[in-house]
Amino acid sequence: MIKISPSILSCDYSKMGEEFKRMEECGADWLHIDVMDGHFVPNITLGAPIIKCMRKCSSLVFDVHLMISDPKKYIPDFVKAGADIITFHIESDSPTEETIDLIRSLGCKAALSVKPKTPVEVVFPFLEKLSMVLVMTVEPGFGGQSFMADMMDKVKVLRAECERRGLDTDIQVDGGINEQNAGLAVLSGANVLVAGSAVFGSKDAKATIASLKNH
Ligand code: DX5
Ligand code: ZN
Repeated sequence: MIKISPSILSCDYSKMGEEFKRMEECGADWLHIDVMDGHFVPNITLGAPIIKCMRKCSSLVFDVHLMISDPKKYIPDFVKAGADIITFHIESDSPTEETIDLIRSLGCKAALSVKPKTPVEVVFPFLEKLSMVLVMTVEPGFGGQSFMADMMDKVKVLRAECERRGLDTDIQVDGGINEQNAGLAVLSGANVLVAGSAVFGSKDAKATIASLKNH
């Protein structure tokens, strides 16, 4: 079963509540919330206080993607704000295992992400503790970039390793996903698709979500 997690980076922030309801009605499974600190990536978005407000507007799973230099420091804030899944980057400055353990100890699901230049094998030592691995299909920082098809080898290697270990870990892809390349991502082994511009930029978001799921 493919899950769609619209990236709210492309939503109309002046009416977030309505946008979240619309996504739910259109069949979104999760909401992908991109947190950027202007340091780990060259862009700034939002933090825990905003997520706390968003929580009042939606009961969808909050899939929080932290693109920040020191995720460990802010994990308690994001858990309190209402995150369901917290993804952080293995390239961040925080100690990987300690950060995963902290997320889990606070009752949240932990996920790790790799940037395009990072080999996916670096997440293998932590797989048993992760609910999900995010393979970035663009350089993190901005919505609306082009999908990097050459990341699919990493998705394949990761899916094979999960199967070898008997793990049903979610594999998420994020960046440039649209109706044209979603099939390739799913065929490679991804089961959670993030889509920002493809969903929010669509004239018929319901049809787009249905089409993204239909692989
Ligand atoms: C990029 C973000 C993505 C992005 C996806 O750094 O992590 O979640 O918003 O947007 P699209 O689907 O437009 O590439
Ligand atoms: Zn993201």
